[in-house]
Amino acid sequence: MLGKVNSFGLSGLDGYRVDVEVDVSQGLPRYDIVGLPDASVKESKERVRSAIKNAGFKFPESRITVNLAPASNKKEGPAFDLPIAVAVLSSSKQIQIDESFKDIIIIGELGLDGRVKSVNGILPLLISARDEGFSNFIIPRGNMMEASFLDGINVFALETLQDVSMFLSRAKQFFPIEKNVWKPETGCNFSEDFARVKGQFAAKRAMEIAVAGGHNILLVGPPGSGKTMLAKCVPSLLPELNFEEALEITKIHSVAGVLDAAHGVVKSRPFRSPHHTATTPALTGGGKNAKPGEISLAHNGVLFLDEMPEYQRSTLETLRQPLEDGVITVSRIASTVEYPASFMLVASMNPCPCGNFGSRELDCKCSPSQIDKYLKRLSGPLLDRIDLKIDVDRVKFFDLASESNEEPSSAVRERINAAREIQRQRFKNEKFHTNAKMSSLAVKKFCKIDKQSEELIEAAFEKFKMSARGFNRILKVARTIADLAGEENILAEHVAEAISYRNIENIEL
Ligand SMILES: Nc1ncnc2c1ncn2[C@@H]1O[C@H](COP(=O)(O)OP(=O)(O)O)[C@@H](O)[C@H]1O
Ligand SMILES: [Mg+2]
Ligand SMILES: [Zn+2]
Repeated sequence: MLGKVNSFGLSGLDGYRVDVEVDVSQGLPRYDIVGLPDASVKESKERVRSAIKNAGFKFPESRITVNLAPASNKKEGPAFDLPIAVAVLSSSKQIQIDESFKDIIIIGELGLDGRVKSVNGILPLLISARDEGFSNFIIPRGNMMEASFLDGINVFALETLQDVSMFLSRAKQFFPIEKNVWKPETGCNFSEDFARVKGQFAAKRAMEIAVAGGHNILLVGPPGSGKTMLAKCVPSLLPELNFEEALEITKIHSVAGVLDAAHGVVKSRPFRSPHHTATTPALTGGGKNAKPGEISLAHNGVLFLDEMPEYQRSTLETLRQPLEDGVITVSRIASTVEYPASFMLVASMNPCPCGNFGSRELDCKCSPSQIDKYLKRLSGPLLDRIDLKIDVDRVKFFDLASESNEEPSSAVRERINAAREIQRQRFKNEKFHTNAKMSSLAVKKFCKIDKQSEELIEAAFEKFKMSARGFNRILKVARTIADLAGEENILAEHVAEAISYRNIENIEL
């Protein structure tokens, strides 16, 4: 007797339909699964067998063949336990699936006790299945929040194999989960806020510009100057998220298994700060299960690399392609998957190994060759992708001790939101939404400058021996400065300020 159940499997961030077919026939007891990678077959078999017994059913003592079609695609993860168990129970006539549930999609892992356990990737699975026209789903109870923000589908979030069985045979009534309306998080308590950072007006201004245009920024300064503190203010400045962006982020976090089950769809932009000992796969993704890495988890948000020269140079080099394209290609054994990785890079570093190079008060003890070696840890092409660079000097005692009120992040964020809105309007027919993401063609179109500005840039070229690549960068940043000022045209003063973020101390961009 053949039992068939519909499920969905994950490939990257997309779901594909999987038919779970089970044949229970006479013969010596045997239990085979085809269509799963070798390693997971054994585990799945044991979980399904125990769950069926512990849920009060009988595991058929006959010949059982489970086929997960298409077999060419090796399925990953434990999410097929539940559909396999249902198909076994159906083919052994222990449950009678109601005709109306013929097309229901079943997804879930099983515990040995018959409990339905949460799985990774529910959101992308549901979205793909909905796109293919499926509208009824059984998912684990633990994944309920994640599913609750999607329209146009009926989702039953069940807790045990018994419940699933009673539901499918209509022995007991269950109700679809209630829909939640997604709202971005506002006014929450961030770990740091500009209000607590005394002085540092230049650095704060540069950060405002960076966040407003989505530009990568590098903070350079001696230890204790507040670089880490400033960078940690970024979450409090980030512009509001929209639902579409939130879904993109959630898909990635869901597949990576780092989603907060209580929240479901994320409500604020990610701020990821991987430690400098992070391996390349941890940063870019990959490894055994080709999970998304930190740069994908930072999608639509921020990747913060504190003390950037401390990271493995080879690891930093892998950031070049995603910084350019906004996606990362992750290889796996038989294929490759692509994960989005469009993030803003915030990085910090000391100007030299001792940290005092260029300081007004303290002496640098490093030799020129030591400094050179230190800076060489960051390659030119990587630095070339950073739009703004700012010197952060130790704050003066006078500023630190002052009782004056600093402008809070919330006020800065309002200006940032306004500048983002201008960009959204300007780029409404484009594939990108921020100034930082303009191609050189788009720069030509959107960043026209007057004669005076042209002369300024020309002088900067001469003076700083700037590369031609720096040109577009200056124009993009000038565009953001103009947007913050609410100016339609880029003025000479905007260009002059943009130039000032290009060349500081000993690091050439
Ligand atoms: N401008 C400032 N306003 C208030 N506190 C500051 C400021 N700069 C530094 N600090 C204090 O000094 C500490 C060390 O700063 P930190 O951000 O770790 O420096 P860095 O990362 O540059 O080494 C901070 O946690 C903060 O308490
Ligand atoms: Mg620090
Ligand atoms: Zn030094």
